[in-house]
Amino acid sequence: MFHAAITGTGRAAPSRVLTNADLEKMVETTDEWITTRTGIRERRMAGEGDVLTDFCLEASKQALEAGGVAPEALDAIMVATVSPDQPIPAAACILQQKLGAKRVASWDINAACSGWLYGVHIADALIQTGKAKNILLVGAEFLTRYVDYTDRSTCVLFGDGAGATLLTATKADHGVLATSIRCDGEGAQFIAMPGGGSSFPANRPETLGEKLPFIRMMGGETFKMAVRSMTEVCKEVLSESGFTSKDVSWVIPHQANERIITAVADRLEVPPERCIVNIDRYGNTSAASIPIALDETVRDGKIKKGDLILFTAFGGGLTWGAGLVRW
Ligand code: ACO
Repeated sequence: MFHAAITGTGRAAPSRVLTNADLEKMVETTDEWITTRTGIRERRMAGEGDVLTDFCLEASKQALEAGGVAPEALDAIMVATVSPDQPIPAAACILQQKLGAKRVASWDINAACSGWLYGVHIADALIQTGKAKNILLVGAEFLTRYVDYTDRSTCVLFGDGAGATLLTATKADHGVLATSIRCDGEGAQFIAMPGGGSSFPANRPETLGEKLPFIRMMGGETFKMAVRSMTEVCKEVLSESGFTSKDVSWVIPHQANERIITAVADRLEVPPERCIVNIDRYGNTSAASIPIALDETVRDGKIKKGDLILFTAFGGGLTWGAGLVRW
């Protein structure tokens, strides 16, 4: 039976850098508070005229080149995002046109910061059932376009970027070994953007007047849930595949807060040097954070053939998940 292997990666981010010093001039905060509470030093911010799917395109071209797959050979394109170019059509359809991919199904995944992991789960299932051979999965966000730069509790956290992953059918012993994805809508208000949908349409002045199309977060509650849920689901995929955390070569977690990453790694008993952290340079790029971190780790030459990689994410929904991959 076929299953999915990650055969190419890529990344792209806006050139504009927003540092903690810049934020000190915008809201009542300090570099010291931001670095000690989150680990973030700077983040990328989309500039005027930047378009999300252009960054998806750049990252995708790198992933396809690395995997030696032409756009015409793709069966599906998924873009995990909560900040597409526009509500209709999906970012994945715009990317399909920009890539020139023919005979391909394309759709977006809205699972906030867990979107890329949801995509891996779906891609592996499509490949296992023989519905697809080559799938392009992109995680991409311009969340800074939805950040309220007068709210210090959220504006220091988010950054922009795109990461692409090519998943290809294989019968070899490497590739996706297990995935588990979850949701609990009870926590829907922990991370939310109330306006811009059909309840509070963006085209009504009161929606904007009440600042509804901006990200809101209950940080403390989210923090606790994130640590608990990611630890639990990581243990689940490890035991399901017959491994323990001692077998794991690298943990590549969603980059929401360095303290969350450390707390999860501690509970899994994974030493810090086996945990990938790049939040200091990117902030929280939501669905883009894992594929960006994966691409950096691959291109830095850190991942060797046969390495066991544990991915885990947590985000709005609430959604969370984990995936175990043999490289
Ligand atoms: N600068 C200075 N002080 C601040 C700032 C800031 N930028 N932001 C908040 N504070 C203050 C608060 O007002 C509060 O002050 P008070 O005690 O006088 O009321 C104090 O700092 C502590 O605030 P907390 O919110 O308790 O700080 P905490 O240590 O929890 O850190 C944070 C906040 C960074 C948001 C953290 O809770 C967090 O990372 N939460 C999880 C985020 C996450 O995982 N998100 C999921 C993905 S997002 C998505 O899906 C789109």
